[in-house]
Amino acid sequence: MAKAFVVGHPIKHSRSPLIHGYWLKQYGLDGSYERIEVAPVNFGDFLKSFPTRGFAGGNVTIPHKEMAFLGVDRRTEQAERVGAVNTLWIEDGVLWGDNTDVTGFMAHLDASLGTGWEQDVETVLVLGAGGAARAVVAGLQNRPCKRIFVANRTLSKADDLVRDLRRGSPVGLETSAWEALGRVIPHAQLIVNTTSLGMAGQPPLTLDLAKAPRNAVVADIVYVPLETPLLAAAAAHNLRTVDGLGMLLHQAVPGFRRWFGVTPEVTPELRALILADI
Ligand code: ATR
Repeated sequence: MAKAFVVGHPIKHSRSPLIHGYWLKQYGLDGSYERIEVAPVNFGDFLKSFPTRGFAGGNVTIPHKEMAFLGVDRRTEQAERVGAVNTLWIEDGVLWGDNTDVTGFMAHLDASLGTGWEQDVETVLVLGAGGAARAVVAGLQNRPCKRIFVANRTLSKADDLVRDLRRGSPVGLETSAWEALGRVIPHAQLIVNTTSLGMAGQPPLTLDLAKAPRNAVVADIVYVPLETPLLAAAAAHNLRTVDGLGMLLHQAVPGFRRWFGVTPEVTPELRALILADI
């Protein structure tokens, strides 16, 4: 029986067990996926010992993603770009780390907008400069858009992101001051919020979307609530919207494939199951 985990601190709110549990049942697999609470001080030992406890691998969540990045033997290119690891597995005795938020976000955009959507997108605006922003930018860099603006309340963090991800990028990467968003929005065919603004209990993200291009898409990675104030405002301006839940579901796919040997599907039933839990 293959066993996998999600490790974090705290871990009780993770929805990953619901996702992987659904797939294990759907595909009739003899496997398990469990929550493991590990304090930061013990994470190094956990990384070394999980294979001897019979685990094939697992997911890593807050606050361990950077420590996992440093602790693995080898990393995928996308984990390397983001500087954080959220998925672990063992291959020929080697501990591998991936960052599946990168492909998860892009797979979600493709599923929501249809393949080829990026043909109309020259300019992207990414709001935020944390780990999620790095994953979103790294994914978009593989697509044929021309330039990505990164705007963040703390401009120096956007500067760091652009410096780290600019290397070897065919896509122009620039920062925008938060106060100057009004100058970028009229050019951005894709706007992505990666900040925590709009999350339940947080202030809303208020953007002036009146001057956004008529064909613009507004995406949010916040999924509690599913319709954030930003997405509601975008819909009110007749702009296409992409909610945050799909990224959570799609980022889970590569891990499941590694541990259990089946490429699982993100279905409307799975979406409904997680929605009922939000
Ligand atoms: P994650 O890894 O999920 O991206 P994070 O690293 O904590 O999380 O990043 C949170 C992002 O939300 C940051 O870009 C943060 O901006 P700062 O770098 O200026 O802190 C942004 N954010 C959080 N609260 C905000 C607020 N009230 N206004 C604007 N941006 C905010």
